[in-house]
Amino acid sequence: MNKAQKKNNKENKNNITNKKLVTFKIPATSANIGSAFDSVGLALDLYNEIHIYENTNSKKIDFEITGEGEEEISKDDNMILSAMKLVFKKLKSKPDKGYIIKCINRIPLSRGLGSSSAAIIGGLLSANYILGNKLSLENEILNMSVQLEGHPDNVSPAILGGIISGVVRKDEDFKYVKINPPKGLKAVVAIPNFYLSTEKARNALPKEISLKDAIFNISRAALLTSALSSNRLDLLEVATDDKLHQDYRAKFIPGLKDLFKQVKMSGAYSVTISGAGSSILSLVKDDEKIIKKVSNAMENSFSKKKIKSEIKVLNIPKKGIIIK
Ligand code: HSE
Repeated sequence: MNKAQKKNNKENKNNITNKKLVTFKIPATSANIGSAFDSVGLALDLYNEIHIYENTNSKKIDFEITGEGEEEISKDDNMILSAMKLVFKKLKSKPDKGYIIKCINRIPLSRGLGSSSAAIIGGLLSANYILGNKLSLENEILNMSVQLEGHPDNVSPAILGGIISGVVRKDEDFKYVKINPPKGLKAVVAIPNFYLSTEKARNALPKEISLKDAIFNISRAALLTSALSSNRLDLLEVATDDKLHQDYRAKFIPGLKDLFKQVKMSGAYSVTISGAGSSILSLVKDDEKIIKKVSNAMENSFSKKKIKSEIKVLNIPKKGIIIK
């Protein structure tokens, strides 16, 4: 038997003997939505999947990774595994069997679409499942993932779905309101072909801001959540204006100013940096012509700067994590 046949044989054997136990689907997210810096985020129906199988050949946790980051993500030391170890520590217990964790990644890495949140949440859920689901999703898992990821506006919509407004920690609890996605609202997302690390994008921000800028953003963030919850989508353009982060981050996203202008002229409700970037989020009416115009405006603005981008038209799902 040659090498390839042996590999094939082993894979077939694994497929027959390894029973699938559970699947987690974790959505992408887009944080900030302009004015609501670090305070509001929404889920997007672009999912990373984690499939857990019994590992009949070993007592270890083995990873298989396909899709986004398959070349970069280590199978021995990754965010999913680190999050899993934290659950083992918290529950003072370890798995007594081996598992295969198959990851199908669709959320691009380091583009402001919540790939780290998805990995951390996926790790916490996987370990919790393996140890008998002792931790609650909306309390302990949410709490731990915020601690690990550091940005509640990213993590909470992935877990809870919809639009999550104001994840505020009060003692041991989180206070937030979930806004159901307004009907007829679509998200057009442009994903440029370059990474932007959150650390780099945060380091570009000033340590202090003026009272004037603070008031500018607070008033618009208040308008944003009211507009989204009362279906006043006509207010989104002004409600997403911001003076706290986007101008400082513009230097990392070539042609951002022109892109914003072109997208607004194409009839979008709003256009903002998605999370810390480098992706762009535009909220638009579910109208084929507008979606096409906005998509073209995004793609053309990037290509004027010789940047390739992928455009995705997405929904804001009502539900966060899907467990099957
Ligand atoms: N609100 C955070 C930021 C999200 O914009 O820096 C980081 O993922």
